[in-house]
Amino acid sequence: MSIRFLSLALLVIFVQQAAAASKTKEWWKDAFIYQIYPRSFMDSDGDGVGDLKGITSKLEHFVDLNVSAIWISPIYVSPMADFGYDVSNFTDVDPTFGTIMDFANLTAKAKALGLRVILDFVPNHTSDKHPWFLNSVKKVKPYDDYYVWMDGKLVNGTTYPPNNWLSVFGGSAWKFNAERGQYYLHQFATGQPDLNYHNLAVIAEIEAALTFWLDHGVDGFRIDAINYLFEDTEYPDEPELWKPDLPADDYDRLDHIYSRDQVETYTLLKAWRKVLDTHSKKDKETKILLTEAYTNLPLTMQYYDAGSNIPMNFMFMTPLDNRSTTRDFKRNIDTWINNVPKGHSPNWIVGNHDQHRVATRYGRKRADGFLMLSAVLPGTGIIYYGDEIGMEDRNMTFKETVDPAGCNAGSQRYRLKSRDPERTPYQWDNTTSAGFSVNNKTWLPVNPNYKTLNLAAQKTDPSSHYSLFKKLVALKKMPIMDTGEVQVILVGYEVMGVVRKLPDTPPVVLLMNFESYALVIDARTWMNIPEEMTVLVASVGSGIPSGVVMDTTEILLPAGASVILMG
Ligand code: NOJ
Ligand code: MG
Repeated sequence: MSIRFLSLALLVIFVQQAAAASKTKEWWKDAFIYQIYPRSFMDSDGDGVGDLKGITSKLEHFVDLNVSAIWISPIYVSPMADFGYDVSNFTDVDPTFGTIMDFANLTAKAKALGLRVILDFVPNHTSDKHPWFLNSVKKVKPYDDYYVWMDGKLVNGTTYPPNNWLSVFGGSAWKFNAERGQYYLHQFATGQPDLNYHNLAVIAEIEAALTFWLDHGVDGFRIDAINYLFEDTEYPDEPELWKPDLPADDYDRLDHIYSRDQVETYTLLKAWRKVLDTHSKKDKETKILLTEAYTNLPLTMQYYDAGSNIPMNFMFMTPLDNRSTTRDFKRNIDTWINNVPKGHSPNWIVGNHDQHRVATRYGRKRADGFLMLSAVLPGTGIIYYGDEIGMEDRNMTFKETVDPAGCNAGSQRYRLKSRDPERTPYQWDNTTSAGFSVNNKTWLPVNPNYKTLNLAAQKTDPSSHYSLFKKLVALKKMPIMDTGEVQVILVGYEVMGVVRKLPDTPPVVLLMNFESYALVIDARTWMNIPEEMTVLVASVGSGIPSGVVMDTTEILLPAGASVILMG
């Protein structure tokens, strides 16, 4: 490897192009969206739980990073059985998070700063404390038919649930309600009864809630669990998969062909698209929809035409994992890009509140590579709070576990299911509770690594995750990232590369060493790229400095290291 002088000319081009990137109408296509888990981002009142005023006080962080939008996990009134994903009032803010005025202040400040605000919307279920459900239990009209109620199956004098369906959080998906004398469907926690989308009144209620928040100026929604909205109305048993290692009531034992991915979903989404579009016209900018559906590729792609701007792509999280090879990644990335319908763009999710943190999933060394990948591939990048500083999971004891998915799994298996490890407070600095709260007791414990791993420390370090991520955001806004040709190339089986090319523009190349040993590669021959290229950014810990010129016929890539070159 030959390292020479700083290639100033190239870095100047980079900065100029990034600055010149125009504000497009379809702003999300060359942007990063930042997911905030509100309980864990910033606590303004010292109760140990994050809140809206906390987020508002930190909006400058997003301006500094230059991300385009924040997506906030649910802030609605909730008994918190699933920490906000169990809503008991869709049109107000939970007191833990603040008030509707606090939300207005947040959006007003965000707007002034040029940031867009996307809300998480949870249409599949409500809380069992929602007045609709309480009335439904009592068969009060029109609420009697708002949920999915069924009689039990009577076998030899004993009543059983209507069918074999299982809850995502384990156990039967049906719970008997003695007062009504029937079972209700809950695809998630028992405190999250599924709404009945075959009832037009439910559809109208949910549209009204969407309109309420559009009227409050939101820029779009992330639709939670969209592929659970409809069920087959015959309610047949679901086929069993051969999973002898799993407990009998584990969700993954069944093939969910009747409780998920029903065709009616797309028709309903089209109606929501229309609701958003009337507001897009008013505000002269597209209101966007992100749809959460862990499903196969063809069904994911259908969400585009039904009105989703971002059918969420979970390929960096599942089913790919540490054992996945470069070949798996290349095949999956190519397939995604090739299947996106004309006029739409892909998206790449680095982390979220349901999956282990990227730095834990792939290991510290490899994590930056996935942030880089989400920047260099065309389309939207989505990161989870803390990914930009390399936050890691914190292991929890069963006693510390609060996530229903973990609690239901029991003391032996909770680690396989709990999402608490990736939900710990944001690490702002090295003071009390990592600067997240003045309270030294927080709703989930702070990761003890905050003493050294925190934003304040990384701000003063030009080779930190934070400094790296800022460069990635700027990179994504360059025209070559939007319209340049894209090629995913394997160098042997060990290194994956992405090459972006645009006429009259220096190419951009990402190289990721998937192996746990150092490699010397000839990227020039494999990728048909210039012999000399400048390092724009390299993964933390790789020891490769930004700004040096590399001989691409002989690149030394340390174990797990990634690098982006320009030239
Ligand atoms: C998906 C959300 O991301 C997850 O956190 C939640 O538990 C379920 N949907 C139920 O709303
Ligand atoms: Mg608070």
